[in-house]
Amino acid sequence: MPLDQPILLKRIPTPPWGDFHDRKYVGYDDYVKTDGYAALEQCIAMEPKDIVEQVKAAELRGRGGAGFPAGMKWSFLPPLDDGPRYLTINADESEPATFKDQVLIQYDPHLVIEGIAICMLACQLDTAYFYIRGEYHHHRDLFERAIAEAYDNKIFGKGSRMGQVNGRDPNLYLHRGAGAYICGEETGLIESLEGKRGWPRIKPPFPAVQGAFARPTIINNVETLANVPFIITNGADWWKGFGKGRPDGAPPTVPASFGTKLMGVSGPVKRPGVYECELGIPLTDLVADFAQGPLDGTEIKAYFHGGISMGVVSQEEAEAGVEMDFDIGKKWNNLGLGTACVTVIPESVSMVSMARNVARFFSHESCGQCTHCREGSKWMYQMLSRIEAGDGTTKDLDLLLELSTSMGSMPGHNICGLSDGANWAIRTIVNKFWDEFESAVRKPGGVSLAVLGA
Ligand SMILES: Cc1cc2nc3c(=O)[nH]c(=O)nc-3n(C[C@H](O)[C@H](O)[C@H](O)COP(=O)(O)O)c2cc1C
Ligand code: SF4
Repeated sequence: MPLDQPILLKRIPTPPWGDFHDRKYVGYDDYVKTDGYAALEQCIAMEPKDIVEQVKAAELRGRGGAGFPAGMKWSFLPPLDDGPRYLTINADESEPATFKDQVLIQYDPHLVIEGIAICMLACQLDTAYFYIRGEYHHHRDLFERAIAEAYDNKIFGKGSRMGQVNGRDPNLYLHRGAGAYICGEETGLIESLEGKRGWPRIKPPFPAVQGAFARPTIINNVETLANVPFIITNGADWWKGFGKGRPDGAPPTVPASFGTKLMGVSGPVKRPGVYECELGIPLTDLVADFAQGPLDGTEIKAYFHGGISMGVVSQEEAEAGVEMDFDIGKKWNNLGLGTACVTVIPESVSMVSMARNVARFFSHESCGQCTHCREGSKWMYQMLSRIEAGDGTTKDLDLLLELSTSMGSMPGHNICGLSDGANWAIRTIVNKFWDEFESAVRKPGGVSLAVLGA
């Protein structure tokens, strides 16, 4: 089914369906006028397990980066007992050059809130915490306004429609982060929510079993939850008509890339922004058709296709057919789709400088609990700085690759995925742009000024 109308962005059109300047906050009344909260009403009449089954049948995969199936996660909760159960919504949006969730948060917050409410009904949760990136001041104010509207209209609180059905008084609170990348990692987020330092936890136990305040907790990304009302209203088969299914003959155990996805494009392009596309769109089409191609006179060299921690794809790979789906990692030797927010890297940028900058980010953001991550990212940054300055040797390049591999997700090495993200980012940049690194270590004086665009 072709995507001739946006789904997730239907109330907040973006080009080619509208103009950025048309965007305005969709309040409760306008939301309801455009079928808002109809899916929640539908769910109120359903058994919780049937809601979970519908999301499972849709094969909705998490939009926060890892692509874990949402319905399956919801079914991991232990049986009910007398204690509270929580939902935490990941609105930390901390991956560099990722800015897709903020569009939903500030323009169509009730869509997110409806998804939250449906998840709470389905999983029989009492309280939801909306954990928002510290820098999102304006978004926070708008989302607080939407939460107040939802309480006024009995979506939450005493006497809510949901409460009348299941005897719970559901509550939704906003919690501000303080700007640390690691607090986007789900257990770092939970620690931070509990008022502690945002240090990721060793898993298991997974949050569904023992999460916030040591109670069962579901954690989902903003965009993941925003998809749920549409899946409820239109059904799993409708949703699976979008995106990319399994290859012919593949068993249902092979994960697919159904549905649409918010994709950001930034860098030197004519129309940077957030677009809704079907999963599987060729990367070159996303950049050419939606972002209207590179700025005049700009040649594209590479892309961060899903945030920096997924690694890079080169322009040659993109032209050979890179598609934006959950299989991108397996096919094009990177970590995965990540946030699907693309940064275009022009020819004028030195990949050595880029790698040094990326390593600096990871070194700065590592929480320091694991030796490979803490020491490795710092060492990587120091080596890349040396190479960039012209003091590196060919041996340094081998050492750099060996070091980044040791930071990968080997069992028992690291508590969370940050270290592996650093590994993939640096490894793909070095491997795919080896010539630039080789000439940097061979050339006295470091990175060539021509490569730097001077
Ligand atoms: C270092 C690190 C940072 C992360 N940052 C975010 C983030 O900012 N937002 C997000 O939704 N998920 C982030 N994640 C992924 C979360 O840990 C988790 O997988 C996600 O919130 C689950 O939601 P989903 O299943 O709906 O995608 C991050 C993971 C890692 C390892
Ligand atoms: S991998 Fe890095 S960021 Fe993650 S817990 Fe270990 S030290 Fe902290």
